[in-house]
Amino acid sequence: MTTCVGVDVGGTKIAACAVDEHGTVLRRARRETPAQDPAQIVTAVAEVVEELADGAAPGEEVTAVGVACAGFIDRAGETVVFAPNLAWRDEPLRARLRALVDLPVVLENDANAAVWGEFRFGAARDAADVVLLTLGTGVGGGILNEGRLLRGAYGMGAEVGHLRVVPDGHRCGCGNRGCWEMYASGSALVREARALVASGSPHAGALSDRCEGDPARLTGQMVTEVARTGDPAATELLETVGCWVGEGAASLAAVLDPGLIVLGGGVSAAGELVLAPARSAFARSLPGRGHRETAPLVLAALGNDAGMIGVADLASRAAG
Ligand code: BGC
Ligand code: NA
Ligand code: ZN
Repeated sequence: MTTCVGVDVGGTKIAACAVDEHGTVLRRARRETPAQDPAQIVTAVAEVVEELADGAAPGEEVTAVGVACAGFIDRAGETVVFAPNLAWRDEPLRARLRALVDLPVVLENDANAAVWGEFRFGAARDAADVVLLTLGTGVGGGILNEGRLLRGAYGMGAEVGHLRVVPDGHRCGCGNRGCWEMYASGSALVREARALVASGSPHAGALSDRCEGDPARLTGQMVTEVARTGDPAATELLETVGCWVGEGAASLAAVLDPGLIVLGGGVSAAGELVLAPARSAFARSLPGRGHRETAPLVLAALGNDAGMIGVADLASRAAG
């Protein structure tokens, strides 16, 4: 049996797995993303690859490595040019990994990899024109046009998280203000939830209890947990994010007219709590609504594994 290793390098964690040719995850490995040092992130990626390759079962051959990154990758697939939420700047990642890992290496943007994973093995199997949004530290976009990944002339197309949705809005890691990812990401959810707790508002009672009164301890997962108990404030925070997601998706539909919109990333773990408001905001913001199809919004079938499964498949194809 041949397998590939897929690695997903995000703003907070590095997740990796060994994947077979059917997209089935066989083994997993994980590290925190080293915060500041670009070289340490490379080392951590090489470590998880080694761990998974060393764990190969008898008769299993690991043939290639795919690395999905939360950043802009050049058209040649050599360099992470820029990453708003990672320490990499002009990082020659492919060459650095090739020096540490004796296998072919393929790089891809994380959301591009995720839409590919969902197209091959998940929620987008029967679709050809797909937009996938990852709602995590940032907002990632993966765009499939007639069954092909949209990469753009320089490799950094589909950076939908940096569409400006609020003039003079919150400052983004990309250098601009008011980017979509400042409103529709997991980071946005946490920022708003912490601000609510810090305000001492009586509405924040349940959220405040959950983090023992310390806003800095509040996570997106906690907000979802509290919302599941029916707490109005936590529910509203998720609704607000869902609304931003749906309105932005409607703008994207003006350009791309997708037949399917897939939501992945940490926030999508909230399920209907974010999906339902996203669907209704999408339907009421769609240009020409009432006279056109409304694309379905669904959750990523592969969940948070979509990126690493997708990039493993891309690596296996490249290795031929
Ligand atoms: C980055 C994208 C990435 C997304 C999700 C954004 O901040 O610019 O490259 O796909 O976050 O990780
Ligand atoms: Na992308
Ligand atoms: Zn931005």
